[in-house]
Amino acid sequence: MNIIQAIQDASLFRPLFKNLDSWKSWLCILKAIFALRMDKKERALFTQLTGRETPPTQQVEECWLVVGRRGGKSRIVALIATYLACFRDYRPHLAPGERGIIMITATDRRQARVIMRFIQALINQVPMLAAMVERQDVESLDLNNQISIEITTASFRTNRGRTVVCFIGEETPYWRSEESANPDQEILASVRPAMATIPNALLFCIGSPYRRAGAMYETYKRHYGHDSPILVVQATSQQMNPCIPDSVITRAMEVDPVAAQSEFFAQFRNDIGSFLDSDSIDRSIECGRQERSPQPDIQYVAFCDPSGGAHDSMTLAIAHRTTYRTPRSAQEERDQRERPPRVVLDVCRAVVPPFSPDAVVKEFCQVLRTYHCSTVVGDRYSMEWVRESFARQGILYKHSELTASECYLEALPLFMTGCVELLDIRKLTMELQQLERRTGRSGKDSVSHPPSGHDDLANSCCGALSLCTQHRSEIHAVKFTGF
Ligand SMILES: Nc1ncnc2c1ncn2[C@@H]1O[C@H](COP(=O)(O)OP(=O)(O)O)[C@@H](O)[C@H]1O
Ligand SMILES: [Mg+2]
Repeated sequence: MNIIQAIQDASLFRPLFKNLDSWKSWLCILKAIFALRMDKKERALFTQLTGRETPPTQQVEECWLVVGRRGGKSRIVALIATYLACFRDYRPHLAPGERGIIMITATDRRQARVIMRFIQALINQVPMLAAMVERQDVESLDLNNQISIEITTASFRTNRGRTVVCFIGEETPYWRSEESANPDQEILASVRPAMATIPNALLFCIGSPYRRAGAMYETYKRHYGHDSPILVVQATSQQMNPCIPDSVITRAMEVDPVAAQSEFFAQFRNDIGSFLDSDSIDRSIECGRQERSPQPDIQYVAFCDPSGGAHDSMTLAIAHRTTYRTPRSAQEERDQRERPPRVVLDVCRAVVPPFSPDAVVKEFCQVLRTYHCSTVVGDRYSMEWVRESFARQGILYKHSELTASECYLEALPLFMTGCVELLDIRKLTMELQQLERRTGRSGKDSVSHPPSGHDDLANSCCGALSLCTQHRSEIHAVKFTGF
């Protein structure tokens, strides 16, 4: 039985689809994935959705669904997963006792569970399929044919030793990891070998497009519109799901046309780019150096990104500006004046939640004292408790003149001209690499972490670096007067 027959069968999946007419585009894509015959109309639709002239003649190896929000991606991959789990026999390729995994990976468990719930609904409402279930909970399901369906998060990196028959990556452009700047590429690289021993193993990546980078964009660039075992679909939400009312799209376009273009019209955004390239970050790092100890004659500046201790890390960075030696000639003096200052990061620490904010302030103040800092600068929107807590330790907490985004932009020339010395802190490097620069409607740029990412360390780091470049700040005028 092929997947289309299973959908049309009243004793199988048909009752789950109110009106099959609205699923026409998806049926066409399913036929393409499994190389099932299409009629003339379907072939035209196939071309519209994939940019390809000829449908695949054998099952594809990978299918990338670059489809707008609410387009039915999660529903359809749940259906495919269920079909594969229940109707394909993978046992000839599995050793006795070995299980073939259908793996669903998403940004977080909550998101992965959406697909899992669709799968469980599909299986449990068909008595014939429900009878195959040996065990199930909210995150996994074992069938009596050596197949298990499991959900994992995008930080999961131990696919070694497992056999994956089908991989579903949900919203790959939004995957984040503390260990990697490219979690999407790395997870896919680790899952492909786990699929190698299964003929006809299938890999799906689904998501609404985001910026022009990452695995989804790279795959789109290479395979969209080309005859290839990697099928790329690019379609608007309404092309795939005509039940979405026009009013939803119109409203989204009014609120934020750029975001709506990507969310509902499946266009990659060109207003978002990466802020720093990996090379300029890498060349600023002193390998193996995690902190620089305080020197007596240096005036340090400090920046703190406070947190209440529940969600975000609280971070502290200390930096200084190197002074050039006393010029020995007029030329050297001119050179020095023209050269941007060299800025050195001395400390960049994070305390991860949960924590008591007061205890962390106390710990940070001890560090500040060893660097002779009587002032620390921080987010200008921070709450009053922050200032009070620092004051109790004898440190003045000053609100930053610049927003976090302005600090990043202020620090940018230091990176571009190679005038910064960073520390070798993996998490900081990740955060810096993941920072995004977006151009607003007014043409003004802003810099921030990507959706569901973090920038606590990067914020403090660039806050401190920008302090070193700000002549207008009184920070430099504050002399250490002892405690
Ligand atoms: N082609 C379609 N016809 C009818 N309903 C659809 C169609 N595609 C999606 N839906 C419904 O729209 C909702 C969103 O689908 P979902 O799979 O969660 O979208 P996505 O994952 O693309 O955001 C679900 O309730 C789904 O049943
Ligand atoms: Mg979805």
